[in-house]
Amino acid sequence: MNVAAAVKPTGFKGIVYWICIVASLGGLLFGLDQGFIANALPTIQKVYGLNLSGSEAFSAILFTGAAIGAFLSGFLARGIGRKGSLLLSGALFVIMAGWSAFLPNYEILYWLRFFLGFAIGIASFVVPLYLAEAAPAKIRGSMGTLFQLMITIGIFGISLTNVIFIKLISSHVERLPLMFLVIVLFALIMFIGGIFIPESPRWYMLKGKKDKAINVLKKILNSQEEVDFEIKEMEEVLGLGAGKKSGTVFTKTFLKVVLVGAFMMIFQQLVGINVMIYYAPRIFGYAGITGIIAMMTVPVVNLLFTFPAIWLVEKWGRKKLLYAGSIIMCASMFVAAFVFLSIGTPAPGVAIGGFSKVILVVAVIVYIFGFAFSWGPVAWLICSEIFPIQGREVGMTITTMINWFWGGIVIAHALTIMKLYGNASLFFIFAFGCILSIVFLYFWVPETRGVTLEEIEENLRNGKKLKHIGS
Ligand code: BGC
Repeated sequence: MNVAAAVKPTGFKGIVYWICIVASLGGLLFGLDQGFIANALPTIQKVYGLNLSGSEAFSAILFTGAAIGAFLSGFLARGIGRKGSLLLSGALFVIMAGWSAFLPNYEILYWLRFFLGFAIGIASFVVPLYLAEAAPAKIRGSMGTLFQLMITIGIFGISLTNVIFIKLISSHVERLPLMFLVIVLFALIMFIGGIFIPESPRWYMLKGKKDKAINVLKKILNSQEEVDFEIKEMEEVLGLGAGKKSGTVFTKTFLKVVLVGAFMMIFQQLVGINVMIYYAPRIFGYAGITGIIAMMTVPVVNLLFTFPAIWLVEKWGRKKLLYAGSIIMCASMFVAAFVFLSIGTPAPGVAIGGFSKVILVVAVIVYIFGFAFSWGPVAWLICSEIFPIQGREVGMTITTMINWFWGGIVIAHALTIMKLYGNASLFFIFAFGCILSIVFLYFWVPETRGVTLEEIEENLRNGKKLKHIGS
């Protein structure tokens, strides 16, 4: 049973807001780094003389670092704790972005971006885990969407500050350090704030430190009744798992759930979102669209349409949102592909029809809208819901890692594909990815709205088909 249903909490203590703000800064930093490239790439290219494949490699190395960071974060979160891992990622963000601001030589900058990715990989695993474990039960659900919202705020924020630096400072060498310093600033806030947040009570319980867990819960919750309830619930879950702990992850059922989570993440990337997040200004440029529209359309729409997801995800359910998102993205990718087919690859300086430009901008807006209210938040949410408790860390580690791995593959090849096979080709590939995602949703993905995590687990144990574990 849910503690919120059993014990009626009366408002939240200040520390709860503090926990939410500090931990969700991890999401913000994820966004700041993801959104960094779009408007900073031309500046980086000028300062470091990067060509097309060099730009792709520099963009994609973050994903490799993040995949490795996500892989290790499961061990880190167990070993040094959730808070310790958050502090580690905060420290890495400060050091790597801070060092980058000194504009070291390209080899060093490249590895700094790898370790920035490593920090994001840790944050993308630990933040949702910490929030789910440390926030009172009543607000645990909204925490999943809060994480995605912070990512989109980060992407928007860094796109905006980068545009401001571009407008105000004409020298590339002078503006690039400032671009990095924005990341340093927020990383410092997270690191310093992180020192003052409590460790996750569930981690203390895992480590057999019940007294410490009780102390933290007393700080977070309003009454002794709530504290006792949570402790009892944790003891039950941990007791239940003790005999099965090592077994859970080696079962066929677990493997099947991992596959569902893994494909959720693969499709989240195969629909092409990060090509828009990273390269929109460049792609718009191919169609002769430059300036503020090219630089800010994607981050603004992405941020705005993450808000409806917060309530739609409970009202419509996860699957309806995902279907709607895939269909909308598929249609808009086809439209974008046909626009590029119609304009071909114009030589620089050749005027492109106003109508084609308008259609392309509308297609991109519709596409981002389609992603922001569906696959953006829901892919992460489903991956945090479908795993049995004893395998949740392992499951989420694997799915987070796969998300970054596939994101990297897409980012490392997108521009080259456009160059080799024509600008339209990439959009056809993404449209095809959207179609495959619909097939995947239909056959394998469960609807998890309105069921408790325990019910999902029970259904799994009873051998229900994956598609029905949420009903
Ligand atoms: C994805 C990221 C993406 C972001 C865009 C997240 O859900 O995992 O790869 O950059 O959404 O908002």
